[in-house]
Amino acid sequence: MTDMPRYPHRHLLGIQGLHPPEINALLDLSERYAEQNQGADKKDSTLRGRTVINLFFENSTRTRTSFELAGKRLGADVINMQVATSSVAKGETLIDTAMTLNAMHVDVLAVRHPDSGAVQLLSEKTNCAVINGGDGRHEHPTQALLDALTIRRRKGRLEGLTVAICGDVLHSRVARSNIHLLNTMGARVRVVAPRTLLPSGVETLGVDVYHDITEGVRGCDIIMMLRLQQERMQGSYVPSVREFFRFFGLDYAKLANAAPDALIMHPGPMNRGVEIDSDLADDFERSVIREQVEMGVAVRMACLEALAANAESSAGGAA
Ligand code: NCD
Repeated sequence: MTDMPRYPHRHLLGIQGLHPPEINALLDLSERYAEQNQGADKKDSTLRGRTVINLFFENSTRTRTSFELAGKRLGADVINMQVATSSVAKGETLIDTAMTLNAMHVDVLAVRHPDSGAVQLLSEKTNCAVINGGDGRHEHPTQALLDALTIRRRKGRLEGLTVAICGDVLHSRVARSNIHLLNTMGARVRVVAPRTLLPSGVETLGVDVYHDITEGVRGCDIIMMLRLQQERMQGSYVPSVREFFRFFGLDYAKLANAAPDALIMHPGPMNRGVEIDSDLADDFERSVIREQVEMGVAVRMACLEALAANAESSAGGAA
């Protein structure tokens, strides 16, 4: 049993740098929780006595609720700290926040922050295990894991699949984490976007770049649509949302070029009629968007369990 692959790190700050067995360990554990979550009794006591804090410096419904549910289903005490009501609004620095959390003996912290790197800084200043719930444009590891779990359950594998990530790649931490995960697990990744919505040097991440969605999705097994993140745009990146939908939005006509059994994904929240046709988003033959949300809870349960177990073994002096 001891040589069963496991997630060996103290924190989960990003997917970059993780190895396939570490990713598989989290996905296999998530699979167990996906089963548990479909039963009548969804709760166990894996994290009884532990304290989990959701520290969200950015608005979020889906991710925060998902972490909250995950912690509660594992029997932990879960507290949500909202920025607007916390002393952050009064100018408290990240370091002071960390000191406060240390004094409260928090076990796991799930953090979302608008600045890339802020979550790593917190992880260096707190005594607890830290999960990155999305930092700026940098990483959103639990999203990539839940996407991978959704794909693996539907397609039976990740290796060898062709995945198109389409839309606002420039502002997307979801895209970055997915690119790292999918490449690490042996999928082929394409990004499909206008030049203005791609980070410079995106090819160096190991992706094929397309500026035409019809070509970009041709033969693909998975199409991941991204939200046009207008709150992160200063100035104009697209002529108009109508124009964006015409050229880069996914509809049935463009989908016809993908593999006949291609699946459509979106991390939410969706802009219907901007990056994805509304009927297509609701088409359960093709769209796995609802399943992504479902797998999100299972993945966050697995991450909480893995990090809490590692904290315990390091406290006990074990390797
Ligand atoms: C994503 C995020 O916040 O990065 N959403 C999410 O976690 N469900 C994507 C987005 O906001 O577009």
